[in-house]
Amino acid sequence: MKTLILFFSILTLQLLRATSDGCHPDDEKGLMSFKAGITHDPSGMLSLWKPGTDCCQWRTTTCLASGRVNSIWLTGSPDQPNSYLAGTISPSLAKLEFLNGLYMMNLRNITGGFPTWLYGMHNLMYLYLQNVPLTGRLPRDIGRFGGRLNALNLAGNRFTGAIPSSISNLTSLSELNLAGNFLTGKFPLGIRNLTNLETLDLQNNQLARSIPEIFSSLTRLRYLRLSGNNFTGKIPNSISSLSPNLEYLELARNSLTSQIPSFLGSFHSLDTMNLAWNNLTGPVPKSFKNLTKIFNLDLSHNSLVDPFPVMNVMGIETLDLSYNKFHLGRIPDWASSSPILYSLKLAKCGIKMNLTNWRPQQTYFYDYLDLSENEIWGSPVWLLNQTDYLVGFWASGNKLSFDLRQMRIVGTMKDLDLSRNSIYGGVPSSVAGLRNLNVSWNHLCGRLPPTKFPASSFEGNKCLCGSPLQPCK
Ligand SMILES: *[C@@H]1O[C@H](CO)[C@@H](O)[C@H](O)[C@H]1NC(C)=O
Ligand SMILES: *[C@@H]1O[C@H](CO)[C@@H](O)[C@H](O)[C@H]1NC(C)=O
Ligand SMILES: *[C@@H]1O[C@H](CO)[C@@H](O)[C@H](O)[C@H]1NC(C)=O
Ligand SMILES: *[C@@H]1O[C@H](CO)[C@@H](O)[C@H](O)[C@H]1NC(C)=O
Ligand SMILES: *[C@@H]1O[C@H](CO)[C@@H](O)[C@H](O)[C@H]1NC(C)=O
Ligand SMILES: *[C@@H]1O[C@H](CO)[C@@H](O)[C@H](O)[C@H]1NC(C)=O
Ligand SMILES: *[C@@H]1O[C@H](CO)[C@@H](O)[C@H](O)[C@H]1NC(C)=O
Ligand SMILES: *[C@@H]1O[C@H](CO)[C@@H](O)[C@H](O)[C@H]1NC(C)=O
Ligand SMILES: *[C@@H]1O[C@H](CO)[C@@H](O)[C@H](O)[C@H]1NC(C)=O
Repeated sequence: MKTLILFFSILTLQLLRATSDGCHPDDEKGLMSFKAGITHDPSGMLSLWKPGTDCCQWRTTTCLASGRVNSIWLTGSPDQPNSYLAGTISPSLAKLEFLNGLYMMNLRNITGGFPTWLYGMHNLMYLYLQNVPLTGRLPRDIGRFGGRLNALNLAGNRFTGAIPSSISNLTSLSELNLAGNFLTGKFPLGIRNLTNLETLDLQNNQLARSIPEIFSSLTRLRYLRLSGNNFTGKIPNSISSLSPNLEYLELARNSLTSQIPSFLGSFHSLDTMNLAWNNLTGPVPKSFKNLTKIFNLDLSHNSLVDPFPVMNVMGIETLDLSYNKFHLGRIPDWASSSPILYSLKLAKCGIKMNLTNWRPQQTYFYDYLDLSENEIWGSPVWLLNQTDYLVGFWASGNKLSFDLRQMRIVGTMKDLDLSRNSIYGGVPSSVAGLRNLNVSWNHLCGRLPPTKFPASSFEGNKCLCGSPLQPCK
């Protein structure tokens, strides 16, 4: 949304500057030196960058009313192989003395370290160098930017080493994003000084030790993403200060231990809570029934135990409680009654029920349904006849018993795992369009339709035959 607003403000700026009289010589010099440092530009990102033309009309820049360049936008498309720039970032860009925002995203083939000459650009407030990708350590003196930077986004580069403690000097930051690098060491204590932060994203690095108690000063924080590191210890108590503003709390894929603190149930603005793949123990706090507005809840792959609170969700969209130590008995009614659920994952949740008559409030939005490793019997035939856009259905390791030929496989379906059940009948030819199929260890019989799946997708049945199994008699 932010990007969209910025995009439209660029358009507006460009219209305002319809009457222009060429590029300021310093701006032109800086921009041309940048272009000279680029060795490959196969998609022509810089094709309008020509000397003697108005650099405010290049679409990849914006200008002040005075005609000075105040932002540069260079963005590759990750899904288009040719959309990249190779080369280096020329320090001559520092000639653009009115530059306020530098946005370089998904350029993918730029080499070099962190451009420390940016310290000298006294108007720079927004620095986005994302998936450029830069290498080396973050400079120890990165604090020299001082109080002028509002956004520092260095996600998706190859920075190594520790986060410099001088980061505490960047007190105006509302966004600090260092996600997707190879940063090591501890969580930097100096982040407690960044009291204007709204987004803190350090996910997918190799930061270790405990998450320090620094959050009581970060009351404006809305996005906290620390997933995919090596954090240990408990979820810090000072996170309780982030209610009521916090919208995204993502601490997944660490080694956090101890119980889920009950104060998390009072986070009324929370949209997404992801605590998956940690070592959390004990029951889920009763206070979670107060998380009425949560849309995405992932507590999977921990060691959480019963009882699970009856939640009061208005419309949960994704729920994953898989692979804990729950004995839910049934698919919870509060989940079945959500009007917009599209991903429901309850693998190994101790569910013992007959699926034949399970009637969720809606089935229209269901994309993913994982009921693997429970004790579910009966048939999903009605369910799969109702879910018109299902992409994945996983129900291996249950007691399902139905004729596979009666099951509808919708055109959107990609992944179907029904292995280790008591399914009978034959394999319909409609499975051929799937990406993954597993119907092994059931009671199926008859000639297999032509498919690309390996023998292990079909083994362990009563009398299936034909490629990739043995020929039919
Ligand atoms: C772009 O980067 C890839 C991977 O690092 C490398 O193999 C390729 O040679 C680079 N292309 C250019 C034009 O530099
Ligand atoms: C902190 O920022 C100020 C300018 O705001 C600067 O003078 C000082 O050198 C910086 N300190 C560090 C440790 O980077
Ligand atoms: C950061 O905050 C701590 C106290 O919260 C203070 O002692 C320290 O001087 C601050 N550091 C900077 C660089 O402002
Ligand atoms: C972080 O954890 C990963 C996987 O558990 C491990 O390979 C890596 O060595 C750890 N890194 C550090 C810095 O502890
Ligand atoms: C977390 O759990 C995993 C698997 O259950 C285990 O291998 C690991 O040692 C545990 N780590 C901690 C810190 O308890
Ligand atoms: C839920 O919120 C209400 C009102 O904020 C509070 O009185 C109640 O104690 C909370 N319930 C739990 C289980 O925390
Ligand atoms: C599951 O429920 C259906 C519908 O009530 C019923 O016909 C069927 O016999 C039940 N299946 C089993 C195995 O109990
Ligand atoms: C599937 O749904 C269609 C229309 O909604 C209905 O006519 C058909 O009988 C259903 N098939 C099964 C197996 O439930
Ligand atoms: C199918 O499932 C069985 C049993 O769960 C497993 O051993 C086999 O590797 C799976 N095959 C494929 C192709 O997923």
